[in-house]
Amino acid sequence: MRTLGLSFVALTLTAAGCSSDSYTPTGTGPAAKLYCNSSGKNAFDTFGAAAFVAVNESIFTNVGTEIGAHMTTNLGDSFGKVGTGMPASTADGAAAFKGTLAAFLVYVYGGPDSIKYTDGVTYNGKGEDMVTAHTGLAITSAQYDYFVANIVVPALTTNGVTMDDVSSCFAPPITSAAFKASIVGQ
Ligand code: HEM
Repeated sequence: MRTLGLSFVALTLTAAGCSSDSYTPTGTGPAAKLYCNSSGKNAFDTFGAAAFVAVNESIFTNVGTEIGAHMTTNLGDSFGKVGTGMPASTADGAAAFKGTLAAFLVYVYGGPDSIKYTDGVTYNGKGEDMVTAHTGLAITSAQYDYFVANIVVPALTTNGVTMDDVSSCFAPPITSAAFKASIVGQ
């Protein structure tokens, strides 16, 4: 068992695949050395930028479907505040939210520090602070767990990520207690 010291979480790796000595991850984000069972490489180097964009788009599609079906029952009222600036963490509009989430996920999972998103704007993932991004939203533990299980995991699997890779190279950072605590109850 190896333990990586991360900027926002101490991540304990138990199920990561092995990688060849010649492989050097593209990026330096917190999960850059968390390897997928399918490939022995990190998630970004396994699936690539286009897949991260597709998953990110699916996350927002799934949120829209969820809110259309159940309104605030499972995810709360946070997403309805996007772009209002109340609280201040929602000042970014939907487009910037989308681009920033994509860049953050790319960075975390071992890609470059920033990416140009589909709107042509370059968004930085490195340096995104989850406490600041969620301050005033009062996201609950149940909402967080629902979001991971019913929004994020389906976004991955509908884009072809196997559950084995979800478990080995995607889940650990976002299911860690420390990362969750940076978002819940802020
Ligand atoms: C895997 C867990 C999560 C990750 C990685 C994540 C990531 C992010 C990032 C990177 C931002 C910054 C966006 C920006 O700067 O524009 C953000 C903002 C936000 N997040 Fe999360 N988040 C997570 C969980 C949640 C949950 C569970 C909710 C609600 C139930 C939520 C609701 C929001 C909202 C409403 C914003 C503000 C967007 C804006 O108006 O700028 N997030 N999140």
